[in-house]
This record gives sequence, C-alpha cells and structure tokens, in this order.
Amino acid sequence: MALWGGRFSDGPAQTVFALSRSVHFDFRLAPYDLRSSLAHLDVLESSGLLDKQVSSQIRSGLRELISEVAKGEFTPKPEDEDVHSALERGLMEKLGEVGGSLRAGRSRNDQVATDLKLYAVDQMLHLASLVTELQSALLSKATEYKDAPAPGFTHLQHAQPILFGHELAKHVHALSRDLDRIADWLKRTKVSPLGSGALSGSSLPLAPEKTASALGFSSNSANSIDGVSDRDFVAEALFITSLIGVHLSRIGEEWCIWATTEFGWAKVADAYSTGSSIMPQKKNPDMAELARGKAGRLIGNLTGVLTMLKGLPFAYNRDLQEDKEPLFDSFDTLFLVIPAVAGMVATTEFDREKMLAAAPMGFSLATEIADFLVRAHIPFSQAHEAAGKCVAQCEKLGIALHELSDDQLISIHPALTSDVRKVLTVDGALASRTTRGGTSPSSLEVQLKDLKVELSQNTTKFTAESKAFSGMMGA
Ligand code: ARG
Repeated sequence: MALWGGRFSDGPAQTVFALSRSVHFDFRLAPYDLRSSLAHLDVLESSGLLDKQVSSQIRSGLRELISEVAKGEFTPKPEDEDVHSALERGLMEKLGEVGGSLRAGRSRNDQVATDLKLYAVDQMLHLASLVTELQSALLSKATEYKDAPAPGFTHLQHAQPILFGHELAKHVHALSRDLDRIADWLKRTKVSPLGSGALSGSSLPLAPEKTASALGFSSNSANSIDGVSDRDFVAEALFITSLIGVHLSRIGEEWCIWATTEFGWAKVADAYSTGSSIMPQKKNPDMAELARGKAGRLIGNLTGVLTMLKGLPFAYNRDLQEDKEPLFDSFDTLFLVIPAVAGMVATTEFDREKMLAAAPMGFSLATEIADFLVRAHIPFSQAHEAAGKCVAQCEKLGIALHELSDDQLISIHPALTSDVRKVLTVDGALASRTTRGGTSPSSLEVQLKDLKVELSQNTTKFTAESKAFSGMMGA
C-alpha cells in the first residue's frame, strides 16, 4: 500500500517500485515501529487530537499487530513498499480508515530515524552482553595460564619473556574499551527524532519530550532538521562494530599462528576446528580465520555508510535508506562471530612446556644484561651496546647468554660481573617486571583481579540497561 499518491495521476513504474522497495530488509524494524506508534498514539490522544474511543481502537490494533509480527503471522505483501507502509496496511485491514489516523504529526522521516535508533540500541545492548561473555572466556584462560612463561614478541621476533596469562589478558582490555565506547554511544544516541516530522517539527500540539521519555530516550532532538538527517549513530555504531571486528581479527590471527605446527602452542578443540575435504590429516582453525576475515566486511559497512553520508544535503534524502542493510549486517555478523570465538578461546589448551622452552630463545634475556648494568649506574647507551656485544659473541660461538664465561663478560664490559647470570633466567626476568601493567606474577595478579571487578561491573550495568529497554518495548 502506498502512503502517498494524491497528487499523482499514475502509480510508480515497476522499475521504480523495485528500486524503492525496502520492506524485504527493513521489516525487521517492525517491533520498534509499532512501539513508537504506541507512544505517538498516546500524545495524539493526550493532546486531544484523537478521541478516546478511536485511540483505544487503534491501541488494540497496534497491540494485535505486535503479537502477530512476533509470531510471524503478519508479514509484508509484495505491494508493500517499506515497513511503515506494511504496518499501516495491517492496521487499516483491521480498523478501516481509522488506521490512517496515526500518520498525523509524524512523517516516515522522523519515524524511520526513531525505529532505527531503537533497533540499534537494542542490538548494541545485546552486543555488549556478548562482548562480556568473550571477556569472561579470555579472563578464565588468562587466569589458567597466569603462571606459564612464554616468549613475548615484537616484529613477530622473540623480544622478552612474558607470562602467557598477561598475553591473553591484553585482549580483555581492548574489549573493555569497546564496552566503554558502547556506553558512550548509548548516551549520545538516546535523543529521540520523533516529533521532527518531515523536517520542521509539527504544527499540531504534540509533546515530543513525552514520546522521547516513553521510548527510553533521555531527550528529543533540539533541531528537527538534524533530527531527521542525523545518522551519526549509525556511523558510530559501525565504527564500534568495526573495531570489535578488528579486535576479534587480531585474536584470530594469534590463534592461527599459535596453532601452526611450527609454533605448536595452541591445541584448538575439535568442536572449534574444521577438516579438509582432501587432506585427511588436516585440522584447521577456521573460526580464527573467519574472525580475521569478517573484519573486512565490517569495515566495508562503515566505509559504505560514511561514503553515502558524505556531501548529502539536508534534510531527508532517499540515500538514507542505504543506512540499514550495513548496520543489520554488522550486528548479524558479530552475533555469529563472537560466540564462536568465545567458544574457541574457552576450549583451547596451550602447551606450557613448549612455551617455556621457547621463552629464553632468540636472546630474549638480552635486556636483562642492559638493565643489570643500569643498576650498576652505567649509562643505558653503554649498557645497550654491551648487551648487544654479548649477543654477537654468543651468536659467533653458538652459545646462550648465560654460557658466556666470566672472562668473556668482563672483556665486553668491566661491570659485567658473574652476578649477571642471576638475572639471565626467565623466572628472574619475569619477576623483575613489577611495575603496574608489567608481566611479573604479582603485577599480573593485580591486573586479573581488577579486570574481574571491571567485568562484573560492566555486566551489571549492561544487564540493567537491557532490562530497562525490554521493559520499555513490552510496555
Ligand atoms: N524507507 C525509507 C527509508 O528507509 C523510509 C523513509 C521514506 N521517506 C521518504 N520521504 N520517502 O529511509
């Protein structure tokens, strides 16, 4: 059913309708559209524009539609253009012409912006809960391996020993920043566009502040043109989902490396691996690879929407219809990826012996020599030079740093006494990194404790937000 046509002598050409039609993807906004219609109905009624009897008829019609949509009993028809026209058809099928009364004081322009915001808030809260689940899987693994030494890398070359729990815990921090971004996004997004009308507000005595608060927003748009045209919340949501995708991708890349035969650190559980159709011996970390690969698609969705918005004149233009599929796709993608990655993380076992054996390889204790000299008040430039010479000597002789003789040490630098051997152990190097955020067992203990507290606070915060949102939707 068309929502316009009075001034036209002919309906749209088939090609025009085909290009315009969005109901096949935007029908998923139906629950939010119906909820915001209920809020709009309330202000139409309280402002005296609809009498009680009509509004209660419409209210029951909307409630019936809410339940029919939830059960899949009401679906779009081929002639419906978008979610708004499909639902108005539904209402008019039930109530006749009275069903058309809801359109007063409202345009699809403020309606679609409101629906999309409600959808985005709902999905973002679900995303936050999935992120906390992944954090919890990473935090458990980090705790399990908090005493397992491993080599740490820079440039993918052995750098300095670290505790493997420290290595895993770093991902929890990145995801915590994502949760902060979500919380911050929620604050900015909770401004209701409803009441902005087509672009200039409404001449009817409506109360957009009231509909805003009924829908869980903290205020309504202070500028109606901005209200209908603002898609910052879409772009920002797509940035947040992209960055989460990038974080997942980096987790995926590490898992791929650690699971190689060359590393042999990670044993990915069978349930989270896949086989090869031709090579019977293969066990591939496909979940890690998909986590890595999906980041490209998420970033693509962000750049697509930013490009669509760039240079768009105000207020509403039909280009804005292109904001939905990328947003839907980014949420859908993460809803698939995060649980699989969380499961993969939770079920992967790491080879402590291999990691321990690799920890001192590649002269990863050379910094300890330099720090030893610094403690003897040798300027770092000299200390660095001397430690480098130790490495060069060892490479020439094919020995490890702690195997240099006393004479060899003294000849490299007079302050290099045999005591230096005491710091040339993985445990010694780890234990000495006691600064906040360092890899020592004591610092890691504090870090893990803080992360647990933060995770539980975030879980409580987002669960409460979700409850409030579901309450609003069910009202
Ligand atoms: N389907 C449209 C969209 O998604 C709804 C708004 C249409 N408004 C208009 N003035 N044609 O953007």
